[in-house]
Formats: sequence, structure tokens, C-alpha cells
Amino acid sequence: ALESMKDMMIKAKKEGYAIGQFNLNNLEYTQAILQAAEEEKSPVILGVSEGAARYMSGFKTVVNMVEGLMEDLNITVPVAIHLDHGSSFEKCKEAIEAGFTSVMIDASSQPFEENVRITKEVVDYAHAKGVSVEAELGVVGGQEDDIIADGVIYADPAECKELVERTGIDCLAPALGSVHGPYKGEPNLGFKEMEEISSQSDLPLVLHGGTGIPLKDIQRSISLGTAKINVNTENQIEGTKTVREVLANDAEVYDPRKYLGPMRETIKQTVIGKMREFGSSQKA
Ligand code: G3H
Ligand code: ZN
Repeated sequence: ALESMKDMMIKAKKEGYAIGQFNLNNLEYTQAILQAAEEEKSPVILGVSEGAARYMSGFKTVVNMVEGLMEDLNITVPVAIHLDHGSSFEKCKEAIEAGFTSVMIDASSQPFEENVRITKEVVDYAHAKGVSVEAELGVVGGQEDDIIADGVIYADPAECKELVERTGIDCLAPALGSVHGPYKGEPNLGFKEMEEISSQSDLPLVLHGGTGIPLKDIQRSISLGTAKINVNTENQIEGTKTVREVLANDAEVYDPRKYLGPMRETIKQTVIGKMREFGSSQKA
């Protein structure tokens, strides 16, 4: 059933696993992720960036597509539709009005006081409608459509504590060395800071840039209070690899179902692999 991510994250943190946020790009991604979740009996978070929502024509289309698929595919596991890296109060409000059950307000590029102010405004609006809110501090490296960063800035634990206390958010994404897109070499996550931030409150933490993080770092993050891990690029890389293979093997193919169907299957298997790594399988 469609719900906010609040309860699923509290349960995940308590029981020591993380829920995957997998980003949507089109119909096939949505089918693949929902089917993977149902087969694995795993709760799941469908991430929708503003760019991806624009690509799919708007928030309303995304919500209607997800609701339609949940009915047609008989999805029984908990599902949240979550705005990924919401850029403003207005965008969060728009997503909530269209039926999103969760939003991220990413004011991490703003000065601290401004981040607190905007995040609080989103929390007040969202919580009145039963919608969960994620906020961010620090800078995640790399690029994810509209979000481009030159470098990485680690979140400051003291600021994290203050943001959490002053806004009432449901989960916090402290940037601690993770990167959107592929890593150049091994990621260098700030586990010391993660531990400190986690010890300050019961709040579940979120790890962005889930593509390419080794299993040992995933497990360590979960043991330090991470209850949500975002994955986007890995599904794109694996899915596109399959499309390339199909097209390379058959120069005559023109029916999109002949290459998007196999892409969908690859994405489903990739998501299943992540759910098992994150420990969310059989937890729905
Ligand atoms: O917000 C989405 C993520 O942080 C995805 O990161 O594309 O590196 O997996 P990724
Ligand atoms: Zn992200």
C-alpha cells in the first residue's frame, strides 16, 4: 500500500536494515522496482527527481502510473512515492498535492539558517497531510540531473543536531563523502561523523549515492543508523547495458518492447540484489 516512509524507516532502523530508494525514469523502471519489492516481500521507496518528473510529464502522471501499477500488479508491500532532492517549498507542495507520500527538501546549498527555515516550512506543511520529510546537510559530490557539485563537503554534526531539533524532520541525509554517479575509486565515507550524528538522536539516516558502495560499507552504515539508501545510477548503467546488448545482437529489431522488456528484467534483478544487500527482503 502507498504510505509515507516514516513507519517503514523507524522499523528498519530498529531491526537493523535499510530500505532502498530506487529512482524512477519511466514505466519500465516503475514496473521493475514494484515487482522486485513484491517478490522480495520488501518495503520500497520510489524516488522521483524533479528532472525525472518533468521527463514523465509531471507529478500527477507519476502518481497515477504508480497507483495504476500497484493495482494491476497486486502490490501488497509498503510503498512510498518520494520527491528526491526537492529544490523548494513550492516544489514539495506541488508533489504533495499530486499525491506524493514523502518529500526531500534539499536546501543543503543554502546557508544553514536558510536551510532550517525552508525545511521547517516543508515539515509543517507535509506533516499536516501525513507526508514524511527528509532533509540534507553538507554536499553530496557528483551530479544527478539538476544537482551538480564540484566537490564534497562533510556535514557538520553540530549543525545536524540543530537542524533535527529545530525542524522535526523524519530522516536526515548528512553528506559524508558519498557521490551521485559512479565513484572514482573506493568511496571514503565519514563513519566517525556518521556515528556521532547517529548518537545525537533516534532519527534514521539516509545514504545518498548508493551506486558503487561496497557491501562492507553498506553494512557499516546500517549498523550506524542508516535506514535508507538511494540508488539510481546502478539501475541506469545495468539497464542500458542490456539495451546495448540486445541492439548489438540484432540489427533488425525495432519493436521497443523487444529491448525495453529485457532492460526491465535487468533492472528488476539489480533491485533484488540491492534489497538483499540492504537486508530489507522479507521485512514487509
Ligand atoms: O538521490 C539519489 C541518489 O542519491 C542516487 O545516487 O545515482 O549514485 O546511485 P546514485
Ligand atoms: Zn541523492
